[in-house]
Amino acid sequence: MIIAVSSEKGGTGKTTIATNLSIIRAQKGTDVFLVDADSQRSTIDFAAVREQEKHEPVLCCAGISGPGTYDEIRKMAQKFDDIVIDVGGRDTVTLRKALLIADIVVVPFIPSQLDVWGLDRMNEIVGEAKAMNENLRAISVMNKVDSNPKIVLKEEAVNIAKDLINIEFAGLTLGYRVSYRRCIAEGVAVTELGPKNKKDEKAIAEVMALYEEVFKDA
Ligand SMILES: Nc1ncnc2c1ncn2[C@@H]1O[C@H](COP(=O)(O)OP(=O)(O)OP(=O)(O)O)[C@@H](O)[C@H]1O
Ligand SMILES: [Mg+2]
Repeated sequence: MIIAVSSEKGGTGKTTIATNLSIIRAQKGTDVFLVDADSQRSTIDFAAVREQEKHEPVLCCAGISGPGTYDEIRKMAQKFDDIVIDVGGRDTVTLRKALLIADIVVVPFIPSQLDVWGLDRMNEIVGEAKAMNENLRAISVMNKVDSNPKIVLKEEAVNIAKDLINIEFAGLTLGYRVSYRRCIAEGVAVTELGPKNKKDEKAIAEVMALYEEVFKDA
């Protein structure tokens, strides 16, 4: 399966989600290739930390971007069971090509006004990709959700996400949790945190819900 993780806005959690999904998938025994399609190269940095710390399973990761993205990923799809692409936060040729080859695109967004506007733009981009890649499924995930119930914007953001024509919102959310930051620093998924850090059962449950939704047709 080919999974793209993409949003037009920066800092929404693409790298966090792409790394967690790839590791959890690899733990199930499939061959996973994690593609860093972002010029910031933070996914490659993450994979380097994982390798340095000798965490198992080993994560195969490399950078692919530009006009050749579609063909290069198609070639890699013959060698690997699953490919997860961390696509940068702008409307680029890389994003367009990734959406043409993907089976599913996961679109993280933060419940803030600026992010919700970005979601609208992403809905248009996904619509254009669907015209050429008819089987493309798109789901959004609300990330960095504050546990404070008084935050009205969360409800507004949910309503906007639900109204999008091309991207489905199935209620998937990730809370604002320090464990996600620790994962990036340590080169692990939330399911692997410990023994230094206490297991965060809430984070594990929400990431596993996302994982199940993404791979439900695999
Ligand atoms: N649910 C969360 N709770 C707390 N911190 C989070 C959460 N998700 C992501 N972060 C942190 O927010 C920052 C941005 O996340 P991340 O790098 O995954 O986003 P991104 O969309 O890949 O960003 P960019 O657009 O810069 O590539 C990171 O420091 C990450 O550790
Ligand atoms: Mg990133």
